[in-house]
Amino acid sequence: MGGFKTLIYEKKDTIAYVTLNRPQALNAYNIQMRDDLYEVLRAINDDYEVRVAIFKGAGEKAFCAGADLSEFLTAPGPIVARQVRFGRDVWGLFLNIPQPTIAAVHGYVLGSGIEIALCCDIRIASEDARFGLPEVGLGIIPAAGGTQTLPRAIGRSRAMEMLLTNRWVSGKEAYRMGLVNHVVPKDTLLETAEEMAERIASYDPKAVRSAKQAVVRGLDTPLSEGLDLEKRLASPLLKK
Ligand code: COA
Repeated sequence: MGGFKTLIYEKKDTIAYVTLNRPQALNAYNIQMRDDLYEVLRAINDDYEVRVAIFKGAGEKAFCAGADLSEFLTAPGPIVARQVRFGRDVWGLFLNIPQPTIAAVHGYVLGSGIEIALCCDIRIASEDARFGLPEVGLGIIPAAGGTQTLPRAIGRSRAMEMLLTNRWVSGKEAYRMGLVNHVVPKDTLLETAEEMAERIASYDPKAVRSAKQAVVRGLDTPLSEGLDLEKRLASPLLKK
């Protein structure tokens, strides 16, 4: 599977790699990238061979510098936008794909860039990473799940500050606030993500998928329902 205009999709054994590939525009997220991402996510979702997916950015300077500002205000009107959203729920698909996802981010991680990273289960940043949410300063708000995923990751007040003041944080600070799992030197970023992916891929995919599902679905339910869900997911794994 290949030939995307804005992404590179590769598979090595059981690990999938998705590279945001518009380095000339700091991998800014445009309409074409939304369409390409949707196709790639569907392919990963349906491919039982893929056990883990790594998301990264091409070029030296950025994982993703946010929404493509050259398309700013060219978006369709609200009715068309809503139809597109119902037809292609990129973020709903991203958050619910059954395999674990790892974001390996460097340089600018702005706007949709943070939101893509937040759709992933695990985030690894290089020391040069800079995270920020410029949307409110542009008169819009994050619309790729960020207002929901960021506070769930780092708590309400920290998320509010980033969202409302556009304060940018470094890789180290992102680590301290729990936005990323690890911060590593830039030249070891991919290697660190790959080591983690290989470890996950070495385990029974049914157990891995069940553990992910228990966490993802459980987070949206009261504890008692979450415990029932865990029981339901655990028992088939015991009957081997
Ligand atoms: N959309 C479209 N193009 C973008 C872009 C974006 N969000 N961010 C960067 N680019 C393009 C620049 O226009 C420039 O293109 P050019 O070489 O054809 O002029 C190229 O990427 C390199 O960016 P540049 O601004 O020269 O790099 P820099 O290191 O000086 O600054 C940033 C980097 C990230 C600080 C700056 O590019 C920026 O502020 N980008 C916009 C961030 C933003 O507000 N995103 C929207 C969030 S909703």
